[in-house]
Amino acid sequence: MSRPLNIAMLGCGFMGRAHSNAYLQVRHFFDGEYQPVLRACYGREEDRAKLEQFAKRWGYQSIETDWRKLVARDDIDLVDVCAPNFLHHDMVLAAAEAGKIIVCEKPLAMNAAEAEEMVAAVEKAGVANMVSFNYRRVPAISLFKQIIDEGRVGRPFHYRAVYNQDYTIGADVPQGGMALWRLDARVAGSGVTGDLLAHSIDTAEWLNGPIQRVVAHTETFVKERKHADTGRVEKVDIDDACMFLAVFQNGSMGTFESTRYARGRKNYSTMELNGENGALFFDLEDPHILQYFRYADPETGKKIEDHLTGWQRIHVTNFEHPYMKHWWVPGTTIGYEHTFINGMADFLASLEGGPAFQPTMRAALRTQRVCDAVLDSARKGQWVEIPG
Ligand SMILES: NC(=O)c1ccc[n+]([C@@H]2O[C@H](COP(=O)([O-])OP(=O)(O)OC[C@H]3O[C@@H](n4cnc5c(N)ncnc54)[C@H](O)[C@@H]3O)[C@@H](O)[C@H]2O)c1
Repeated sequence: MSRPLNIAMLGCGFMGRAHSNAYLQVRHFFDGEYQPVLRACYGREEDRAKLEQFAKRWGYQSIETDWRKLVARDDIDLVDVCAPNFLHHDMVLAAAEAGKIIVCEKPLAMNAAEAEEMVAAVEKAGVANMVSFNYRRVPAISLFKQIIDEGRVGRPFHYRAVYNQDYTIGADVPQGGMALWRLDARVAGSGVTGDLLAHSIDTAEWLNGPIQRVVAHTETFVKERKHADTGRVEKVDIDDACMFLAVFQNGSMGTFESTRYARGRKNYSTMELNGENGALFFDLEDPHILQYFRYADPETGKKIEDHLTGWQRIHVTNFEHPYMKHWWVPGTTIGYEHTFINGMADFLASLEGGPAFQPTMRAALRTQRVCDAVLDSARKGQWVEIPG
């Protein structure tokens, strides 16, 4: 039997679209009781025309220009926070107080102090919550995790993550405004650390366990930019690029690199794990492929490498692969938007008594702590331990 789940969408940009699409699509591909209903969406009064267009295009039944009013509405079950980072804290606290189920985009907050208050609020209110680290739901990354859990990599030695883009190289790119609020530290909290490395850190800890300590270096290549809101040239306070070394609790070593100045790279995210018995590599520009190197039998630890051994390119589209039985026939691919649909399917299943959803806000708080430690280390020029 179908049960309506009334959605309030806070933010109508890139993620507002990705999440709306997920709500509309999820029941076409995954069975379940809850049926998302696009009840209302929020945008600022100054963006009213865009908000109306968004509501019409995606089929929202009503609009609001006061998010507090929307969050408190009795006809809303789930609040979805797809607004810029500085709004996450207040929106989540209000939604928790109103007893709503909460979906929140990453990074969870501007910093760990805010994130702690958010975790306390949702746990006190006892409301189900998820943070949208959608890359966990790329089938090839889920398979990466499965292969580690099957013991096929063995003792891990090295984890390597890269997340590079190139869209802020021009000194004439303004800070502030649609999408480019990411360059304004007051709105974003940090630069590539919270925006891109938060993804790499979430995935790294999911795949390879907790990070124990970090040492980082950041750079701001363009020191001043015109602000889209004020029209004035203002100091840039975000990190344009960040590199850090990590030591994981399991004893392995990690390197992380992120920049928006890697000419030619648009959304280049890779990860590699090298273990005693095998290795894995994933590249988001080739998202259907997982590369696996098999050195030893996971049961016996005995070497099986021979003259036929090499990196296998697994085309992750078989029914046996994570999520893929819900989609098309083997050999046909899915895309970026499906990671949000897969995530929503898992979250709705958890609301219906299925496996607990991860990452919750409590899990995402760890990522926030690592981000804070990275930025702290870059400021101090020394190793910083991750608390908790
Ligand atoms: N999971 C992912 O891969 C992923 C990808 C992109 C963004 N995000 C996250 O999603 C959130 C939204 O990012 P986006 O890319 O959709 O941004 P966006 O700029 O495309 O859209 C932001 C929305 O918020 C509104 N907005 C902007 N400034 C506002 C303000 N001061 N007050 C109220 N509303 C304001 C805009 O009008 C727009 O509707 C961010 O937290 C971001 O980090 C996650």
